Amino acid sequence: MNLLLKDRRYLVTAASKGLGFSVAKALVAEGADVTICSRDESALAQAVKTLGSRGRYVVADLTRPDDIVHLMSDIRKQWGGLDGVFVNAGGPPPGPFVSFSDNDWQRSFNLTVMSAVRLTREALPLLKKSDAPSILYSTSISVKQPIENLLLSNALRPAVVGMMRTLSRELATDGIRVNAVCPGWIRTDRVRQLLSRTPERESEILSSIPLGRMGNPEEFGAVCAFLLSPLASYVHGALLLVDGGLYQGMM
Ligand SMILES: NC(=O)c1ccc[n+]([C@@H]2O[C@H](COP(=O)([O-])OP(=O)(O)OC[C@H]3O[C@@H](n4cnc5c(N)ncnc54)[C@H](OP(=O)(O)O)[C@@H]3O)[C@@H](O)[C@H]2O)c1
Repeated sequence: MNLLLKDRRYLVTAASKGLGFSVAKALVAEGADVTICSRDESALAQAVKTLGSRGRYVVADLTRPDDIVHLMSDIRKQWGGLDGVFVNAGGPPPGPFVSFSDNDWQRSFNLTVMSAVRLTREALPLLKKSDAPSILYSTSISVKQPIENLLLSNALRPAVVGMMRTLSRELATDGIRVNAVCPGWIRTDRVRQLLSRTPERESEILSSIPLGRMGNPEEFGAVCAFLLSPLASYVHGALLLVDGGLYQGMM
């Protein structure tokens, strides 16, 4: 299947590794040009080496409004416009309710919600120059059911879905598609780190996934490349689980 991505231009955030990198790789494999960002320049340079000549990077900390403005102005200078954005950021810290101060809540809100707000705001003028623009928000299965010990993710990510669903009406007149993906358990460094604290949880998690295994990043990247592509032109306002069947609710 041809995703019609050749020579289109995408921004994939928080993408030196993990889910973001898998999306960048999938887009590049289909002939798209991709800008990735994250905080560590040497990790970004290494990632772009793997992506090849269609990859480029900008160093940006998504908790800093100025970095997001700089990221988009770099893209404007380089490309003049954008066909799509994969909105992704690092994960909030794990822990139970009693372990978090007001400051922890504010920091996680800034990372999880405000990064998505600011990326959307700054990307809109660039997306309006495309004939097939789309935004894909990466959230989590935690927007459908809470994950143990990930209170901040459980509490804050639904705000991004609320924004996406509202934008699906507001941005439709500009032809900008918006959707969200909800990864379940995809084996990345973050998941390895989370489970290294409680290794006994892994077998419990695996037994709760109907497919009996965690996803690999390539499986996630392929779904996201499709949703961002012009081939998904009638998918708008959708929330798609990529979870091996983990979520068991009817809706
Ligand atoms: N993997 C899963 O199964 C899963 C499931 C549900 C939700 N999620 C969520 O998906 C997101 C990505 O997870 P992952 O598994 O890909 O994690 P990962 O493997 O740890 O990769 C995280 C990426 O985000 C970048 N990053 C972190 N903080 C950043 C910031 N402030 N500004 C810019 N870039 C930043 C990291 O680079 P630097 O540290 O160098 O900046 C890295 O490139 C997280 O929010 C996570 O909670 C993951």
